[in-house]
Amino acid sequence: TMCANGSIGTEGPEATETDSSGTGRMRKPLERNGSTQNDTVHLERRLGLFSGVALIVGTMIGSGIFVSPSGLLVRTGSVGVSFIIWLACGLLSLLGALAYAELGTMNTSSGAEWAYFMDAYGPAPAFLFSWVSTLVLKPSQMAIICLSFAQYAVEAFVTECDPPGGVVKMVALVAIVMILFVNCYSVNLGMAVQNVFTAAKLVAVVIVICGGAWKLFQGNTQHLSNAFNGPMPNIGAIATAFYTGLWAYDGWNNLNYVTEEIKNPSKNLPRSIIIGIPLVTLCYALINISYLAAMSAQEMIESEAVAVTFGNRILGALAWLMPLSVTVSTFGSANGTLFAAGRLCFAASREGHLLDILSYVHVRRLTPAPGLIFHSLIASAMVLHGTIDSLIDFFSFTAWIFYGGAMLALIVMRYTKPNHPRPYKVPIIIPVVVLVISVYLVAAPIFETPRIEYLYALLFIFAGLIFYVPFVKLGMTPRFMNKVTLFFQLLLEVVPTSSMAM
Ligand code: ARG
Repeated sequence: TMCANGSIGTEGPEATETDSSGTGRMRKPLERNGSTQNDTVHLERRLGLFSGVALIVGTMIGSGIFVSPSGLLVRTGSVGVSFIIWLACGLLSLLGALAYAELGTMNTSSGAEWAYFMDAYGPAPAFLFSWVSTLVLKPSQMAIICLSFAQYAVEAFVTECDPPGGVVKMVALVAIVMILFVNCYSVNLGMAVQNVFTAAKLVAVVIVICGGAWKLFQGNTQHLSNAFNGPMPNIGAIATAFYTGLWAYDGWNNLNYVTEEIKNPSKNLPRSIIIGIPLVTLCYALINISYLAAMSAQEMIESEAVAVTFGNRILGALAWLMPLSVTVSTFGSANGTLFAAGRLCFAASREGHLLDILSYVHVRRLTPAPGLIFHSLIASAMVLHGTIDSLIDFFSFTAWIFYGGAMLALIVMRYTKPNHPRPYKVPIIIPVVVLVISVYLVAAPIFETPRIEYLYALLFIFAGLIFYVPFVKLGMTPRFMNKVTLFFQLLLEVVPTSSMAM
């Protein structure tokens, strides 16, 4: 049964700063007041317009704006085209999010995509979604953000030459372990880290925008002229440029994980989207202009960490502020991502979609340690084998298959459930446009610039079906699994939540 997520509302709006799905599930054991028998815990609607906007902005701004601008320039070949793509990514996210607002107000359960796929297509596609998001999407987000963290942390100390790749990977692994520790230690510590660190990314954004404005004011506009000089990118390169840009905007659908807690969702959900996403788009546009006020496109491409180069040029004695605020910002995002990943894993295994052990919580700390450890292991493997750019491609490719799937789900349900209440109804053209673009985004790179990552991603998705049929649909459990579960239960001191609620 889909159970409502617990009492996230008692935590305050900050608690949802993380892009968590079903945060409350974790707290069920904490509520020892008898209400635990009853799965439909009542949620307080306490997220207003302001918290909604803050949640969107807080999850969207992360590592991308500090690592993607160079990649986008390389892929588009000119400042002008890359700028247009930055704006187009913002628009696409806005349209996608509006369509999600209809889905989220039709079905308010915290599973977001999982729930929409279930409604529109049935259990197998819903399973594939949780399969891919727990095994691929969440860990790759974590890996990308931690690699960006490491890039900035290392760049702060290496001034002469490019930072050695091995060191960056080591630092990224250390970051994963630290974040894992924080989140296994206590749920509250994870949230506290989140709140403090979210502020840091706003500091970084404000510094860059003000510094750039000052530079432009002094007349440093030379890098902004002749913006369209350069070869026109081909159609496959444009799609991969979108991958890079869209990474920076990812998280636009995050309000859908907390629709149950939004006050007057049919108004506040679309409003938060209409304010939040253009706000992020504006910040990203201004930041790009700021970078170009301080360095040329070529210098931007060569820089390992644009914001550090920017700081060195503009901030003088305060240059250290830049790597510091970016590392803090990315650390916070990675923390939020792991936090959310833990919940997702928890939710999926409770549906019987993943190994039981992954839904267990630690006996004393009440944290979903097995799920967190599992994610961190996959993320670490990705850090070791990938680079920021290849992981972003891998992530965006996979994510847009499912975002497109959600658009199609909306369209399908207009036909299959015409009378279902839709508190917010989006003009049908919007999901159609987003669906067409997502088909293009997924198909164009396969044909124009094929990469092995895309094949892996597809294989992965279909491998899900191989597991689905015997283990989920037919409910078979290999005998030795009980032993494995027991072993990890003793090793990690974890128990199923149902046993804690008694
Ligand atoms: N846009 C964020 C960044 O630039 C990544 C967000 C990852 N997605 C998420 N749902 N947490 O780092």
